[in-house]
Formats: sequence, C-alpha cells, structure tokens
Amino acid sequence: MTTDVSWRPVADLAEFGDRDVIGREVDGLAIALYRLDGAVYATADHCTHGSARLSAGEVVEGYVECPLHFGLFEIRTGKAAGAPVGRDLRTFPVRLDGTRIEVAIAG
Ligand code: FES
Repeated sequence: MTTDVSWRPVADLAEFGDRDVIGREVDGLAIALYRLDGAVYATADHCTHGSARLSAGEVVEGYVECPLHFGLFEIRTGKAAGAPVGRDLRTFPVRLDGTRIEVAIAG
C-alpha cells in the first residue's frame, strides 16, 4: 500500500521575524514551525497534555516549552521530554524552496 504525500507551502522564512516558533494551518491541521540551528522543523501545534498551542510557547535549546504547564517536547523528534507531557507530538517532514517552507502532509 502506498501513501500519498503532498508538499504544501505553509510560510516564508521571513515570517519568523524574531520568533523561533510560529503556527500555521494547512488542510485543517494546526502546525508549529520551528527555526533551529539553521533548519526548519514542523510538529503538530497542539500540546498532547492539554489545549495549548505550542506556537505560543518558547524554544529552549532544541525543545519547545508549552506555554500552559511548561511541558517540553524535543523539536527534531516530537518526543515528550517528561511530566506533565507523556505523549509524543506528530512531526512532519519539511523542505525549503528558496525561502518558502513546505511541509509534507500524508494523505
Ligand atoms: S497543556 Fe501543555 S503541558 Fe499542559
């Protein structure tokens, strides 16, 4: 069985401004985009612990800190990094076309 993957333009690098995380919607999915060590990563924008947007959080040394209860997730892998978060985040492949950020959504 094959899975269709489509690359969707979601943002431009300039949209980060002075932030290291921004949130965007694509195909009804809320996606958080991170700028980290010269690369861009994407995860689901909903914390797996409660109803918080990770795009409203802070990036700290490769992790995103949830703004509600300060749970941490590893940005590159989506791994939950300890209480109160126990479930990993969905991650999405990212590619750049110039300054345009594209995210792969499995259909
Ligand atoms: S909602 Fe994110 S840590 Fe609780």
